[in-house]
Parts: sequence; C-alpha cells; structure tokens
Amino acid sequence: MIITLDGQAGSGKSTAARKLAARLDMPYLDTGAMYRAVAYRVLEEGVPLDDTAGVLDVAQQLDMQLDCGPTHTRVRVEGRDVSEAIRSLAVSGASAAVARVQPVRDLLVRKQRAIGKKLGSFVSEGRDQGSVVFPRADVKFVVIADPEKRAQRRLEELHTEGEDITFDEVLTHVVERDANDARQWEPLLDPGAAIVVDTSDMTLSEVVDTLESHVRERVVDPVGA
Ligand code: C5P
Repeated sequence: MIITLDGQAGSGKSTAARKLAARLDMPYLDTGAMYRAVAYRVLEEGVPLDDTAGVLDVAQQLDMQLDCGPTHTRVRVEGRDVSEAIRSLAVSGASAAVARVQPVRDLLVRKQRAIGKKLGSFVSEGRDQGSVVFPRADVKFVVIADPEKRAQRRLEELHTEGEDITFDEVLTHVVERDANDARQWEPLLDPGAAIVVDTSDMTLSEVVDTLESHVRERVVDPVGA
C-alpha cells in the first residue's frame, strides 16, 4: 500500500506522516530530507545556489543513504549521519533553491521511485508525491493550514532548536515559501484526486486520527466489514 502526504511548509505534514506510518507500522519516506541532503552538500562545497550546473553536479555525485523506518527517515551523506544537520534554517533556504532545479528533481524522483519499489508499502511525504512521483498511490492526502498557524508552529520548532528568530520573520519565510511552492506545485496537483486535510484548528493527534481513519476506510476496510 502506498500513502502519500503532500502539503505546504509547516502544515504539520511531516510529524503527521511519521505518526501515521508508526500507527500503521509502515516505513516513512521523507522526500524533503533528500532535497535537504543535496542542499547540505551544496552549502558544504560552497557551490553558489544559482549555479544550476554545479548544484546538479553535487546531486549526481552525492552518496546518500536513506534509512526509512516507521518512526523516522535517517539520512547519511558520504557516510555521515546528517539527519539533524539538514534541519537548520540555512539548509531549509538552500533546499528550496535546489528543489527548483528540474534535473535535480528528475534525479531525486528516480531515487524516490527506486526506494518505493524496494519498500513496497510505505508512507511518503513531500510536495509532489501523489501527483508526480507515485500517481497511483492508494491514498493521497494534501495537508494545509493557515499561514499564521504554520508560522507559529515553525517558530516553536526553531526556538527548540536554538534559532534566534521572531514570529514576523518566520511568517515572512512561510509566505515566501508558499509563493515559491505555488509556482512549482499548483499545476501538478490534480484537484479532487487527494483528500484535503486542513490542520489549522486541529491538534496533532486529531490530524493523525483523521488520516488513519481515511486510510482504514479506503484501504484496510474498504467495504466496512
Ligand atoms: O518538506 P521539507 O521542508 O523538508 O522540504 C525541503 C525543501 O524541499 C522544500 O523547499 C520543498 O519545497 C522541497 N521539496 C520538494 N519536493 C518534495 C519534497 C520537498 O520540492 N517532494
């Protein structure tokens, strides 16, 4: 069974996807981590983000290993575990630039499909999972939330990670990323093909309950037996 979760930055989809995977005891594929891993190496190598040939070269040379478990995706780059390092604000910004390079996307989409093939059954999370990467997924979700709610959640995460940043700065990031993502993704979403879950006024466990009940209804127990 393939379950995809796509959605906006800070919509809560990562945590929800992880928790859903744990409840269903299925591996969790965090595709954002793959763009982040490329961005991490691009920054480490000092390649300018507007040097698309250089960025592609880094992506092509990258030795990236993903360990997809029901509660996590751990990422190793050149043999080093970078799962935490790829979460920094610098890497977030760079990953958005990396994700705009179409040949990098093509490369990572191929890797995602290869990982998916190996895993068989999994929960995959990103921006294009239900539309481009796994269009024949069994259950597709699009997770959304108000920009202010997403900024507040992101602010709390960043403060926990020790970043010194204000709500207004985070909100500006969120709005900018939405504009970028919308330019990239809106044409790819097939309206009506996915279940849209608005998490603005939901707690995390309500979100996970909602996702799980849709999955059980559609796949695990399709005739309500
Ligand atoms: O979801 P996350 O914030 O980790 O994603 C990191 C970056 O990778 C974002 O800029 C996002 O737009 C991009 N991304 C993407 N396609 C995916 C997953 C993430 O373009 N499938």
